[in-house]
Amino acid sequence: MKSLAITGNFPEANVEALAVVVYKGEQATSAGLKELDAVTGGILGSVISSEEFKGESGETVLVRFAPKGKVKANRLLLIGGGDKNECKPYHVAVAAGTAMRAFNKQKVKSVALSPRTSLDASTVASAAIQGAICSTFELDKYRSSDKSKQTVTTFGVHVDGAKPADLKKGLTRGEIVGDSMNFARDLANEPPNVLTPTEMANRAVKVAKETGLKCEILDEAKMIKMGMGSLMSVSIGSEQPAKLIVLRYTPAKSTAKNKEMIALVGKGITFDTGGISLKPGEGMDAMKYDMSGGATVIGTMRAIAMLKPTVPVLGVVAAVENMPDGKASRPSDVVTAMNGKTIEILNTDAEGRLILADAVAYAEKQGATSIIDMATLTGAVIVALGDQNTGIMGNDQGLVDEIIECGKENGEGFWQLPVSKEYSKQIKSDIADIKNIGPRGKAGTIMGAVFIQEFVDKAKWAHLDIAGTAWSDAAKPHAAKGPTGVAIRSLLTLVERSQ
Ligand code: BES
Ligand code: MN
Ligand code: ZN
Repeated sequence: MKSLAITGNFPEANVEALAVVVYKGEQATSAGLKELDAVTGGILGSVISSEEFKGESGETVLVRFAPKGKVKANRLLLIGGGDKNECKPYHVAVAAGTAMRAFNKQKVKSVALSPRTSLDASTVASAAIQGAICSTFELDKYRSSDKSKQTVTTFGVHVDGAKPADLKKGLTRGEIVGDSMNFARDLANEPPNVLTPTEMANRAVKVAKETGLKCEILDEAKMIKMGMGSLMSVSIGSEQPAKLIVLRYTPAKSTAKNKEMIALVGKGITFDTGGISLKPGEGMDAMKYDMSGGATVIGTMRAIAMLKPTVPVLGVVAAVENMPDGKASRPSDVVTAMNGKTIEILNTDAEGRLILADAVAYAEKQGATSIIDMATLTGAVIVALGDQNTGIMGNDQGLVDEIIECGKENGEGFWQLPVSKEYSKQIKSDIADIKNIGPRGKAGTIMGAVFIQEFVDKAKWAHLDIAGTAWSDAAKPHAAKGPTGVAIRSLLTLVERSQ
């Protein structure tokens, strides 16, 4: 998509369709609206003063008009922005996506948005173009007919009186973020016969080549040699060999204090049948998305490589398939993880924590001082938080608070659940150090977290359970249903803030 930085008179933007955000309680005489009111012959004013449009978020009204003079556009979409004082970059992204999808239905080719916020120009441009790019993602990759058509190929962002250079800087960032999110969403949408652990590794290698990341793929022989008995216990029942994907970003000039290094670690279960503790058939197809945490890591690393922050970041993805088989792990098997801890596997469907145990220990061994793991780990988090909040848990309140804060900027909810010694006691095993499940029906999400915590030594650590937020069951005005690319924006903000 072509992006435009518009700093002059908005109604005269060289596009077919205009979109403007109107906030709650605004009049048609407000700055940035009166020009549009004139262009539409007063229709904008009459819509605003009517009951049908109050500027609440989620509202839209389309106005058609006959262009005159230097005005090229012949339609204007009013988008409700809610409370102007509470406008965050995320709201701009939603407005952009809403405009894109509305005008795409009308076969429009070029669109411009005026978000009219007091956020700085580069932030506005970044959020807008990211939202516009994300709005184009569709689930039609494997359709041979009836493909969705993207007619909008030009998207302009207007910030009155801004320096064009500031807008362009934001557009460049937003394109990177939007493309990286769509990259991750495409991975999560891939069917599991296509996206095997090997294919996931291939995609990571390709991204690394394109963006200049260092990439190393550890095969099973290497993982066995390193003592990753926990990860390997999940892979053993699959015909598909596991891959540990390691992506490294090293800044040209580092500003990191005391050799600090952030690691992003992802659960990359390319399909989760449950193994011998087989899942019921109904709804099992959804488990192709069980590699969403891994997709988030690769997508975020792609963006980091292009945004070039001044701190080092390590990405680790455990790509594994969980299958039942004659060789598969049994409930009651005991295995030894890379850090020497022994695990009694009481449920082979609690496999995410088994692969993350070794992946997290590996990240710390590579020098990570802060570890953030992402995983579609538990059904329990969906029961607790639904699709609105990602469950967050960790051993360092500062890190947890920072992630929650970055989430607020990006419209991503993170809701903290407690971890404590009392919970950790509940995964003590009768015959090994720990077991991979807690008491039936009790604090399932926390049990997953305290299990992973056993494999973190000194690093700060946060665990994001994205089982409820990685997939959206319904289309929104700004986005198709399906994979969401959750956490990518928040993690990028976190990395940028730690420079
Ligand atoms: N990938 C699933 C988590 C999941 C379940 C996500 C349902 C979305 C919907 C995970 O591997 C799993 O199976 N977790 C078990 C853990 C249990 C056996 C302790 C679960 O949540 O049921
Ligand atoms: Mn499972
Ligand atoms: Zn799983």
